[in-house]
Amino acid sequence: MSFAKSLVSFLATSALATVGSAAKVTLEKDVVIVGGGASGSHAAFRLREDYDKSILLIEKRELLGGHVSSYDAASGNSYNYGVQSFVDVHGAAEFVSERLGVATAAPGRTSTTTRYLDFTTGEDVAYTAPTSAQLIAALTVYAEICAEYEAKLLPSYWDFWAPDEIPEDLLLNFGDFVEKYDLQALVPTLFKVTGMGLGDVTNVLTLWVMQAFGGPMARSFLGTQSTFVPASGRNQDIYDAFADKLGDDVLYSATVLSTKRSDEGVLLTVQTANNQTVSVKAKRLLLAIEPTESNLAPFNLDEQETAVFDKFSYSAIGVGIVSNPVLPTGYSLTNLPAAASPNDWLVLPDLNFTARFDYMGTEESEDRDYFRLLVIGDGNLGATGVKELAQTNFNTLIKAGAVDTPDSSELEFVAFTEHGPMHARVSADELKAGFVQDLYALQGLRSTWWTGGAWVAQFQTHLWWYNDILISKLIEDM
Ligand SMILES: Cc1cc2nc3c(=O)[nH]c(=O)nc-3n(C[C@H](O)[C@H](O)[C@H](O)COP(=O)(O)OP(=O)(O)OC[C@H]3O[C@@H](n4cnc5c(N)ncnc54)[C@H](O)[C@@H]3O)c2cc1C
Ligand SMILES: *[C@@H]1O[C@H](CO)[C@@H](O)[C@H](O)[C@H]1NC(C)=O
Ligand SMILES: *[C@@H]1O[C@H](CO)[C@@H](O)[C@H](O)[C@H]1NC(C)=O
Repeated sequence: MSFAKSLVSFLATSALATVGSAAKVTLEKDVVIVGGGASGSHAAFRLREDYDKSILLIEKRELLGGHVSSYDAASGNSYNYGVQSFVDVHGAAEFVSERLGVATAAPGRTSTTTRYLDFTTGEDVAYTAPTSAQLIAALTVYAEICAEYEAKLLPSYWDFWAPDEIPEDLLLNFGDFVEKYDLQALVPTLFKVTGMGLGDVTNVLTLWVMQAFGGPMARSFLGTQSTFVPASGRNQDIYDAFADKLGDDVLYSATVLSTKRSDEGVLLTVQTANNQTVSVKAKRLLLAIEPTESNLAPFNLDEQETAVFDKFSYSAIGVGIVSNPVLPTGYSLTNLPAAASPNDWLVLPDLNFTARFDYMGTEESEDRDYFRLLVIGDGNLGATGVKELAQTNFNTLIKAGAVDTPDSSELEFVAFTEHGPMHARVSADELKAGFVQDLYALQGLRSTWWTGGAWVAQFQTHLWWYNDILISKLIEDM
């Protein structure tokens, strides 16, 4: 154990808590990384294990993994109510099995019957979804279009088009793009799987929709791109493995209080779990958190940085596991505006909305069914708002007789996490005014580098792929 590492583990013990903040400690590292989700955990691992850099990873929660959210039931079963599966791009499955020692398998699915209801009225919506032949035809066309643009969109925007050369298709609202290429049959699946995080995708720029469901996702549905999960079925295992490997180089339940950044390096003041104040001096800072105003408050942004990040707008996803005896076993209760009937595939619910209650399984020992709840908000809904909206919708379903009348109409929350803000996006005008170039021009300023969903696409393994390019730039001249 190095001197710096032993200090971290010393700090992590409660022994020091009684000493008080007089015991100020300074750590020196090559790279300090803030945020231990998909992008930060991976970058920390790669920098330490493959580039021989000393690192410190600062995470505000008590575990790594960000959006993953696995719930461990008393029976020993695990339920993934956040991230569902990992796309095997850029050797991701091999990385997980060989480097992290986590055996992988093809994802399995709980099969459910979809019942469409308008959650604002509780009425059933008579709706014919596209046939699988229609879906495959649309996916095939869509995958071809995505492939044309893919090299500039994945895994990073370092080769993005000049502002006046961005293809017009990508600047269309997705609804218009769909009409142009006759892709209506794609929309319900795209929305259901990952698109819904953006709200009503027909009003969102095609560029952002493609980043939320693009070539790799289309190909995974066509069977030409594989996806994986840990063989255990517990997605958190991947991040627990990162945590094991990184050991004492992670500070959990830690908060960055203030920061000094210059071309020579950075100095962070961090409050640890037991209220110790630690100073961390590093040659580079890597921020792996969503670049929102509140997240970035301790980082002393300059005008150039603020001007860029102010342009982002976001949505947020609240997910949980809920239970109530009248939620129907084996069903997905899916919210759809009545206007979608009988088959207008472009009619979708918009922010803020409960997307669905999906049957996940039955816990015999607890005598109850688990349902995955998905609520999409505009970033202002918050955890309380998410739960209230879900409860209101459930009450409506009861009142309309869509489900039986329970003894208690309360939705029981077995697990819950609010994910957001995420899906950072800007307008077509901003893109044409050089937003992407301005965003990437921030990389490396005052020894600060950036990763995470806002920098490319909201997928676990896409971010790992992006990191590999980022890291090669970050370590230059170090
Ligand atoms: C419900 C849901 C389902 C999803 N399903 C999939 C899927 O099936 N497959 C897939 O590939 N992707 C999926 N995604 C998307 C994917 O999880 C994200 O793209 C990815 O997690 C983004 O990684 P990130 O590193 O940017 O952020 P995160 O993974 O969110 O990590 C950010 C980390 O930073 C920490 N943090 C935040 N602020 C601070 C701070 N100030 N100081 C210290 N730490 C801080 C957070 O606690 C968190 O651990 C899903 C997302 C959601 C919300
Ligand atoms: C840390 O300080 C806060 C208030 O400053 C206090 O509420 C909390 O209990 C302290 N935690 C520990 C572990 O000492
Ligand atoms: C979503 O809910 C929040 C909190 O109630 C509210 O501030 C916001 O205006 C709502 N958004 C929309 C689009 O209705």
